[in-house]
Amino acid sequence: MRRVAVLISGRGSNLAALLAAAATGGYEICGVISNRPDAPGLALARDAAVPTTVVDHRKHSGRAAFDAALQDALDPIAADWIVLAGFMRILTDAFVLANLGRMVNIHPSLLPRYTGLHTHARALEAGDELHGASVHFVTPELDGGPVIAQVPMAILPGDTPVILAERLLPLEHRLLVACVRELTSGSIRLVDGKAVRSGGRLEFPLVLGDDDQLAARTLAVSASP
Ligand code: GRF
Repeated sequence: MRRVAVLISGRGSNLAALLAAAATGGYEICGVISNRPDAPGLALARDAAVPTTVVDHRKHSGRAAFDAALQDALDPIAADWIVLAGFMRILTDAFVLANLGRMVNIHPSLLPRYTGLHTHARALEAGDELHGASVHFVTPELDGGPVIAQVPMAILPGDTPVILAERLLPLEHRLLVACVRELTSGSIRLVDGKAVRSGGRLEFPLVLGDDDQLAARTLAVSASP
């Protein structure tokens, strides 16, 4: 059984989805780390009898010291995979490179569009017809690592950033679970800086289907980033 550590900063709804699917997903959530002691997601982990650790960023003098403490918390978990699920800290290159190829992030946009924050508002402001979420390998470039898979969602008349975020969240959960299943089954890997699935490089991200499977098909995204 592949071991997965989940890093969170807040609510933990993506963590909840991963916990719920673990029994049938072929992976085990073996530790949850939060940079915020008050993150509601910590209680979800405890309820599931998953060990939790708080590495409070405010108690460290800088990013390097925080990341060193984060690595110290991760090491005993002996995770095969690290999932950033609403983890709101920018990681140092050293930390990222030490965990390269085994760390992924869920981001609420169709990358490469809208790295960083306020993705829903920016998609609306741009007049996009399509929004969505992405799971990508974490590399030193913020939200810039190879995208593994995406889920698209139409933007509708009257949508607001809050409405978009609410409607996207359940799709994020399904996307993240599908990706973690594939990653922990060993069929997707990072090779020479590219996402590779069962021997072939992903020219485009996989797309989540209604059946919760990840399929190779392209998304028609309306405009450039
Ligand atoms: C999600 O929308 C995720 O994409 C973003 O932060 C949110 C975290 O939500 N990075 P939760 O803590 O998993 O409920």
